Parts: sequence; C-alpha cells; structure tokens
Amino acid sequence: MTDSRILVDALGRIHNNLRISVTDRCNIRCFYCMPNENVQFKPRAEILTFEEIVRFTRVAASLGVNKLRITGGEPLVRADLPELIGELASVPGIRDIAMTTNGILLADQIVALKQAGLQRLNISLDGLREETFERISRRPGLDRVLEGIFAAQRAGFEKIRLNAVAIRGITEDEIVPLGEFARRHGLELRFIEFMPLDAENNWSDDQVLSGGEIREALENAFGSLLPIERTDPSQPATDYQFADGIGVIGFINPVTQPFCSDCNRLRITAEGKIRNCLFSIAEWDAREVMRGGGSDEQLCELLHDCIRAKKPGHGIDSPDFVRPERAMYQIGG
Ligand code: 5AD
Ligand code: SF4
Repeated sequence: MTDSRILVDALGRIHNNLRISVTDRCNIRCFYCMPNENVQFKPRAEILTFEEIVRFTRVAASLGVNKLRITGGEPLVRADLPELIGELASVPGIRDIAMTTNGILLADQIVALKQAGLQRLNISLDGLREETFERISRRPGLDRVLEGIFAAQRAGFEKIRLNAVAIRGITEDEIVPLGEFARRHGLELRFIEFMPLDAENNWSDDQVLSGGEIREALENAFGSLLPIERTDPSQPATDYQFADGIGVIGFINPVTQPFCSDCNRLRITAEGKIRNCLFSIAEWDAREVMRGGGSDEQLCELLHDCIRAKKPGHGIDSPDFVRPERAMYQIGG
C-alpha cells in the first residue's frame, strides 16, 4: 500500500474504519430507528452476499481500512453470521472486528462468534425496566438482552460496551440504575444522544437528553466523574471514570458536541451503497460495480470518490440541514 492509496479526504481525515451493515432487518422496532409496522425490507436478492462483502472489505483493506464493525438492522438476524466474521477476520490488514447488536439473539450465537474472530461487542441497552424497553422497542425482550450480555461475559469478551440512547421524557430515571448496573458488572456504558435518524420522522431537538445533562444526573448520584484522557482522537465518545476508579462511562454527543472533525468512518449499507457519513445524502453503489463485472480497481476508485466528497460535518444544528432519506436501520449506525 502506498500513501497515495489511503482513503484521505479534503480535510486530511484518514478513513481506516469501515462499518458494514449486513441486513436491514430487525427483531424489534426501536422508535428512534425503525417504523413500528409495515417495514419495507430490501428483498434478499438486493442484499450483498457474503462473497461480495468480503471482496469489498478486501479492497477497502488494500486502501488502509483495518477496523471493521458489523451492524444492521440487527446483524444477528442474518443467517450464518459467524461464517462471515471468520472470512472477514482472515482478510489481510484487518486487525479489529467489532459488532453492534441489540443482544436478543446473542446468547445462542456468542460462542460461535467468538471462535470466528469477533473481538469487541456493543450491546444496546437503553434502560433496565421492561416497561422502558417496550416503550422504546415496541416489542418485548429485555430478559433476553440481559441474558445475552451475561453470556458474552461468560464467553470471555473482555470489553463489552452498553449503548444507551437517551430520550427526554422516557429514559431520565434509567440513567442512574444503568450506571450502577454497568459498574457492578464491569461493563462500559455509553450514553448516545438521540439523532434525527428515526424512520417516522418524529425527531425534535427537545427530545434530545444531552450528554451534559446525563453527566450531571450521574454526578448527583455518584459524585464527580473524572475525565479519562482520549488516546484515540477518532473515538466519538468522551469517557469518564468514577472517582474510586471502578467503572467507565462515556458520552457520545453528536447533537450537542459534534465530533465530525476527527471522523475516520465510512459505511456500506446492506445493499452495497457506500456512505461517507451517517447523514450523507449521496451514496456510491458498490453492488452495481461488483455485479456489473467491475474490477477491484473500479471499487478503489469508487471508494476514493466517496471519501473525497465527504463534507466537513453533519450540520444537524444548521438551518439548512437536510435529513437523509434513510433511517438508522437502513444505514447501519
Ligand atoms: N439516535 C441515536 N442512536 C441511535 N441508534 C439507533 N438509532 C439511533 C438514533 N436515532 C443506536 C442504537 C444502537 C446503535 C446502532 O445506534 O441504540 O446502539
Ligand atoms: Fe433494531 Fe437496532 Fe434499530 Fe432497535 S436500533 S430497531 S435494535 S436495528
């Protein structure tokens, strides 16, 4: 790999982190991501095959991508996911594979996933009460998520992160119990601000419970949180430690404190569209290239075109912000 091949954009941001959505399907219906009923899923034939995903990843890795995150929809509803992870783990240059999951199907698959080479796990958990779970996800399932978390710990995953989307009017009274739970079980906890990527287009900024407010609530309960120095500038979260050194809590504040200037992420959707931002309007069609008999060189060109066109930031707070047409489940988080 020569330097001229790496995926660097006009602002000098080097893209080494690829998020791969393996399906737009999900077994629950979180309101910040999916419609409740009548979801139009992509037909199977439009979804990239494992072979296509691996080919795309190999090409991306030849341009300096070395970290992968598997997302969905819910990645574990895609059949044979451990097989895909095994293949991705053997792509030259890939040194880290993580997955974001809602945890519902995790207990059944965790051992196979670990054996296949999955290294890190983020599990979504917005609260500890079934009532909160069902209000958000509009389906039951909290018990299975908790089982999934403990199964992952038993399987030997060391660093398990819980992702909690914070929503005003719904999750305020979950914050402190989540903090306690994470600390007690040796889990990292990250609060994420609600972003305008819900499928029903109901987002409004007064539903955003900011990271600042959450930190205040936690400090009122637990005492001061001490900032942890950032070692990786591209990490979206600002992390804190409890004063006694036990437990890490992070805040991902895309709405109140955008971190676009250090973004190193690119995405491919389940049907093979490359995106340079969660909020991008434009997409570059890798499936068309692959199914049309295109070469790896053409895929490289497409990746470079996509990264070159990356905007400085998402502009959620700007008056001319335009929401992407896709909702979260169609992008992959
Ligand atoms: N805003 C913030 N976070 C979201 N997630 C899904 N939709 C949104 C949204 N609109 C989170 C999920 C999961 C990850 C994929 O993204 O909770 O942790
Ligand atoms: Fe499913 Fe995740 Fe979207 Fe919730 S946020 S509906 S778990 S894909």
